[in-house]
Amino acid sequence: MKVLLVGSGGREHALAWALAASENCEALYCAPGNAGIESCAECVDIKGEDVQAVVQFAKDKDIDLVVVGPEAPLVAGLADALIEAGIDVFGPKADAARLEGSKGFMKDLCAKYAIPTAAYGRFSDFEQAKAFIEKQPGNVVVKADGLAAGKGVIICQNKQEAIDAAEEMLSGEAFGDAGSEIVIEEFMDGEELSYFALADGKTILPLTSAQDHKRVFDGDEGPNTGGMGAYSPAHLITAELEEKIIHKIIRPTIEAMAAEGCPFTGVLYAGLMIVNGEPKLIEYNVRFGDPECQPMMMRLQGDLLEILQAGAQGRLNEILGTVTWSDKTALCVVMAAKGYPGSYPKGTPISNIEDANEVKDLTVFHAGTALKDGQLVSTGGRVLGVTALGDTIADAQRRAYMGVDKIEWPDGFCRRDIGWRALAAEKAA
Ligand code: AMP
Ligand code: GLY
Repeated sequence: MKVLLVGSGGREHALAWALAASENCEALYCAPGNAGIESCAECVDIKGEDVQAVVQFAKDKDIDLVVVGPEAPLVAGLADALIEAGIDVFGPKADAARLEGSKGFMKDLCAKYAIPTAAYGRFSDFEQAKAFIEKQPGNVVVKADGLAAGKGVIICQNKQEAIDAAEEMLSGEAFGDAGSEIVIEEFMDGEELSYFALADGKTILPLTSAQDHKRVFDGDEGPNTGGMGAYSPAHLITAELEEKIIHKIIRPTIEAMAAEGCPFTGVLYAGLMIVNGEPKLIEYNVRFGDPECQPMMMRLQGDLLEILQAGAQGRLNEILGTVTWSDKTALCVVMAAKGYPGSYPKGTPISNIEDANEVKDLTVFHAGTALKDGQLVSTGGRVLGVTALGDTIADAQRRAYMGVDKIEWPDGFCRRDIGWRALAAEKAA
């Protein structure tokens, strides 16, 4: 099979690494990819959002399956255009990608189909938003409706902060059009967990769990980021909780999307808050998580290409029960450019990745790298994902940091405590 992967981050490197390992993968292209992805795919200089260029490339190369990594091309209608051209695609059409692309759409769907989530209101008028905030019994979270690169969520410590956030978003100052409508919701107190399931419109194939670390500094301090590290499975997960997540959240959502005339195909990523043992939905993403995908791909036993193709072709029922996961824990430490998530320099030199890759059961996934005159350099905020498999969370963590410590990148930094909640739980057990 000839496969085209769309995207350029650490998630796509992990997907490319797993797809290239498939016996059936005869050619793998990545648009646009990065310096790490070059080692397992042929990178082509096309951006995912350039829908027409992606479709044309897929036609020219006779691609059998397109796998879309990030959300923006999906929200922009890449899957629709590929399907129209008769090309199989793993990822939802634009109307189903609204689960991530519009927080208001997601919240209204939850309300209509009784899917547990935080109480909320949707606003495009500031005075109404302000009145709603003033009426709330506790703290609120203010969110831009549209895509804002993970930054459109403000957790407010008091009412004035919430009013200011609402005003800034609705004025267009903060996130442009993405903030012209906002969602204001109840603050939920609990521990976060991410759960992933495949769907092909009808059949659900549950995958596994992971836990991300969204804050930039150790101990979950500082501003939110795209994710500074993740491990899988999440320590909170039990068979009972997994059952609740599928029956109370994932299944009703997939059924609701079908009933609404926008069946969901692809990977559904549920961001959940576990409150007193009960899962509540924080958000949906319509793609794999980054960096959650990196540890997940290290644990996956089975042929990713076959799995994603079955998803794209509506045949998940044929492979139910065949996807298994290593019992080990995988843990990914993200190395980011100093300054991230604020402004940071680009083009800074990185070396010794090969030494890190020699650690057993460890892979350095590239997220934002390029080769410049033979030197590996950074091209983004999150740059590497050092991912290791271990018998326990402590073992996986120790090995991941062994890899981190071999890498020479004076302009980079990482958190030193990825997996800390799980480690504390493992020690206590
Ligand atoms: P989102 O982009 O919706 O995932 O939000 C980013 C982060 O904000 C989440 O991972 C949570 O840590 C936090 N968050 C969002 N909504 C809530 C909420 N209603 N209560 C508490 N935390 C929230
Ligand atoms: N790591 C968070 C995300 O992929 O949205």
